[in-house]
Amino acid sequence: MGLAHVHIRLATDNDMPAVRVIYNHYVATSTCTFQVELETENDRLEWLHNRTPAHPVVVALVDGEIIGWAALSPWKSRGAYARSVEASVYVQPDGLRRGIGRALLADLIERARAAGHHTIIGGACTEHPGSLALQRVLGFEPVGCFREVGYKFGRWLDVAYMQLLL
Ligand SMILES: CC(C)(COP(=O)(O)OP(=O)(O)OC[C@H]1O[C@@H](n2cnc3c(N)ncnc32)[C@H](O)[C@@H]1OP(=O)(O)O)[C@@H](O)C(=O)NCCC(=O)NCCS
Repeated sequence: MGLAHVHIRLATDNDMPAVRVIYNHYVATSTCTFQVELETENDRLEWLHNRTPAHPVVVALVDGEIIGWAALSPWKSRGAYARSVEASVYVQPDGLRRGIGRALLADLIERARAAGHHTIIGGACTEHPGSLALQRVLGFEPVGCFREVGYKFGRWLDVAYMQLLL
């Protein structure tokens, strides 16, 4: 399938059911997220409402349908970390390799710059080299790997980190 014509905008309450469906697919089937419990619609609404403008959530639409979402989240809560953010990108399984993830991450990078952030961190379980490859394409560089920090589906999981200085 060719590259999709993708429109990216800030997420609203009405987008949360679609965001949740995409996320829960990966919660249930994949080690790309370390969450193990499926989310309720209320969980996702609360998550959206608890964010600040410096930590936006965006959705990607193709032909008016949400096909992916992405978010900038605080890297850590202590004050000195305030201008460091972590990026998350999720594309629905039947929409992969059409440029959606790239468009979402590129959009997050622009929003992080506009918000005055200094660096974006991307982490990915090493079972998913595609996430790391996407980050690399957009200029992130490897910074290290934590061994066996996650346990899901009966196995220990390593997490590799990438970083982009803005
Ligand atoms: C990682 C993810 C967001 C990539 O989204 P995508 O829309 O398929 O990625 P794109 O089509 O924009 O890919 C852009 C580039 O990234 C790289 N890339 C993306 N997925 C890849 C894969 N599975 N294997 C190797 N390289 C990959 C390629 O260089 C690709 O360019 P190309 O298709 O021209 O070769 C998607 O696989 C996903 O949602 N995975 C589950 C959630 C996840 O792991 N999120 C990241 C952690 S927060």
